[in-house]
Order: sequence, then C-alpha cells, then structure tokens
Amino acid sequence: MDKIVILTGAGISAESGLGTFRDAGGIWTQHRLEDVATPEGFARDPALVHGFYNARRAQAARARPNAAHRALARLQAGWRGEVVIVTQNVDALHEAGGATGVLHMHGMLSGALCAACDHRWPAPMEMFPGTPCPACGALRARPDVVWFGEMPRHMDAIMDHLDSAGLFVAIGTSGQVWPAAGFVRDAAAGGARTLELNLAHSEISDAFDETREGPASRLVPAWVDEMLGS
Ligand code: OAD
Repeated sequence: MDKIVILTGAGISAESGLGTFRDAGGIWTQHRLEDVATPEGFARDPALVHGFYNARRAQAARARPNAAHRALARLQAGWRGEVVIVTQNVDALHEAGGATGVLHMHGMLSGALCAACDHRWPAPMEMFPGTPCPACGALRARPDVVWFGEMPRHMDAIMDHLDSAGLFVAIGTSGQVWPAAGFVRDAAAGGARTLELNLAHSEISDAFDETREGPASRLVPAWVDEMLGS
C-alpha cells in the first residue's frame, strides 16, 4: 500500500474557525449559492460576489492550521510512499500546516483570474468589479475559485492518483458535491481500501470500507499515528 490519496472538505478547517457549507449555520444557510458561487450570479452582480469572497479571504487569512492539517503534513514527511492531498477547500491551511503539492480542485481564495484572458495572479485582500487584469486590462477580474457549473481543477491528475491508490481517505466532507463525492467509488474500483473520517455519518458513509466519527483534530492525528506506527 504505497500511495495514500486524501480528500479533504470544509470539516477539516472547521476547528480553525472557518465555517462549513451545509451544517447548521453553514455558509449555504446564510447565502444563496446561486447568487455567490455560479458564473451566472457573478454576471448578474459582481459586487455581491466579490464582497462574499473578500469576507471569506479576510477570514481565511486570520485562520491558523489545526492539529488535523499538521498531522497530514507529518504523514507526508514520514510515510515511505506517496501521500497525495486533494482538497475542495479554497483556504491555504494545508500549506500553512506544512503540506506540499496539495491539489486544490476548487481553486484558492489567494488567486485572481481574468474572465477575459484567463491570466492568473495573486489576489489582493479585496477585489472589486473595477479591479483591472494586469495582463490585458479588462475589468473582469474574479476570484480564482471553481463555481457550480464549472470544471474542477486537476481532474486528470486526480483520477490517475485515485486509480493507483492503495488507500483512499476522505476527511470532513459531506459527499454532496460531484465529482468529489464519487472519488470513494473511483478509488475502490482501482483496488484501494477506503476510510472516512468525519464528524457525523455522511451521505456517502456507506460506500467506505471503514468510517470513524469525531472531530478531525482528534481523529486525524490518531490515524496518522497508527499509519506511522508512532
Ligand atoms: P460541507 O459543509 O458540505 O460538509 C462538511 C462536512 O464536514 C460535514 O459532513 C460535517 O459533518 C463535517 N464536519 C464538520 N465539522 C467537522 C469537524 N470538526 N471534524 C470533522 N468533520 C467535520 O463541506 P464540503 O463537503 O467541503 O464548493 O463541501 C463541498 C463543496 O461544497 C465545497 O468545496 C464548496 C461547497 O459548495 C464550491 O463552492 C464549488
């Protein structure tokens, strides 16, 4: 079992103070995702969408990695094979916790993208509809995140990793958003054992060989200790 592929969701950053989406009081109970997380919403009201992501960017900049992020970095450093981290999160807490090569399939808050010419650059803390693209000058700068109806990033690499994984672990994700929700079955089809670490039973718990329930800050370090025999 050389390669471990780990998929993380908002639950791993919850104990760093960043809200999840679908739990009680979650982001999608406070904002309509059609308004703030779709290309159509951005075309209708770019100021509203920038305001939503500016607030999330400010919150993410204040957040610190928790024991779960740090444990995954420890696993990457100590495991004899490859440990690939795929995240749906747009924060940089895996990197802040010491992880490397993280595949951000839903993009990152720290990036800006020109909707006119696809140029990418580091996002300022606050973006506005009048923020010009440094390459082409168009006033169509947007956060470099993936919205509903758009293609997630790095999919070819992710599918290759799932196919060659010996173990697939999902941490803190509700399993309600595709294609990530299907990764457990993709990995199992390639022969991987599958493990879910989540606060509570999820929509996709039954698809895993093993499920452990509890907060990520407790479950993830304990699982990493097991893997490293420490
Ligand atoms: P969700 O909010 O859908 O699910 C969060 C999951 O984390 C739930 O299953 C919770 O039970 C679990 N959870 C909460 N606190 C936890 C903790 N302390 N420890 C462990 N687990 C905990 O978030 P995601 O599954 O990440 O996409 O959502 C997937 C995508 O939907 C996001 O990337 C975002 C969203 O719409 C886009 O915006 C494109």
